[in-house]
Amino acid sequence: MNCRIAVIPGDGIGPEVITSSVAVLNRVGELYGHTFTYAYALAGGAAIDAYGIPLPDETVRICRENDAVLLGAVGGPKWDGLPGDLRPERAILGLRSQLGLYANIRPARLMPSLAGASPLRGSITEKGIDIIFVRELTGGIYFGERGRMKSSVGSVCAYDTECYSEDEVIRIGCKAFELAAVRRRNLVSVDKANVLESSRLWREVMHGLAERYPDVRYRDLYVDNAAMQLVSNPSDFDVVVLSNLFGDILTDEASAITGSIGLIPSASVGDGTFGLYEPIHGSAPDIAGKNIANPVASILSAAMLLRHSFSLDEEAKQIEDAAERAIRDGARTKDLTDSAGDAFLSTREMTEAILSRICG
Ligand code: NAD
Ligand code: IPM
Ligand code: MN
Repeated sequence: MNCRIAVIPGDGIGPEVITSSVAVLNRVGELYGHTFTYAYALAGGAAIDAYGIPLPDETVRICRENDAVLLGAVGGPKWDGLPGDLRPERAILGLRSQLGLYANIRPARLMPSLAGASPLRGSITEKGIDIIFVRELTGGIYFGERGRMKSSVGSVCAYDTECYSEDEVIRIGCKAFELAAVRRRNLVSVDKANVLESSRLWREVMHGLAERYPDVRYRDLYVDNAAMQLVSNPSDFDVVVLSNLFGDILTDEASAITGSIGLIPSASVGDGTFGLYEPIHGSAPDIAGKNIANPVASILSAAMLLRHSFSLDEEAKQIEDAAERAIRDGARTKDLTDSAGDAFLSTREMTEAILSRICG
């Protein structure tokens, strides 16, 4: 198979972890006889430095001309002072919305060999953690009207608006119910319907969908309670559907309880097979350029790309199994070590540990 992939390394540790993912894809290509063609493009701080804007049209065009996009991460202190529309993060939002990628799938699973890396006690982790978050990605407060104004007494005000249409909730809800139906048939919808009107509409729509999926056990949780339940009873969750903002926040929490943010991949998808694949972590400026970032989240994002955009299930499983075996055999990047003095592998060594376990 010939797979055409747009690659956006981005900023900070983005290029480091993308190098790992590309190496893994190439290994899979050699073993299974696939050709991966990469079209590199700039976004985020790298694009600001080259063109003065975070998301050049050329980058969007390259993404559209390919079958899938692999992205590292964007952002960093160098560009933090820029106005909102010119910040590196705008590139991610622009890509998601211009490419119609309204659903973000984020799997958070605790590998048994990493129980020690979870901050939760053994009596909680021994019940297992295996959750898929379905985050709405092109609506809500991220894309609502925002601005600044002066109050009548001259004080500066700023506002952001959360707005969801019925159709937006239906399409993300359907994705979540369909996913739950082929997993443990347990779906939680997270909202703040006790306060927010947008959440009340969200909840009404979800209840309507629940009637269409009688085999899926459905419940609602307020986001504050969900944040608490996630650390006290994580084994109660199977699939979780939530708005753009709540999804952003709770998935970072889920990454911590499953060991590290350096482990969680994501797939941003729409209605077809096209998708954008990226780790949920950011550009990690504090560790950039040190060859110590955990490449696993990016490598697992490449596995999601193979499965979703190219239906290469066996190849995807090879990558996932290799990463899990490497970790089970003791391979640890710095973020996965138990205490400060423990030995750890560099980004490149971790990548090698995974590459050597991909055997076709
Ligand atoms: P971050 O995810 O970059 O880092 C948070 C913490 O996790 C840091 O201590 C970092 O060292 C650690 N970490 C992250 N990824 C790691 C990895 N692979 N291996 C080991 N440790 C890892 O979040 P932040 O510090 O809040 O944001 C930094 C920049 O990244 C900001 O500009 C932010 O806007 C941006 N950001 C981008 C994306 C994206 O491109 N998708 C996502 C989140 C944040
Ligand atoms: C993520 C990131 C992004 C988000 C930022 C960089 C725009 O935090 O993918 O989780 O908030 O969606
Ligand atoms: Mn985030």
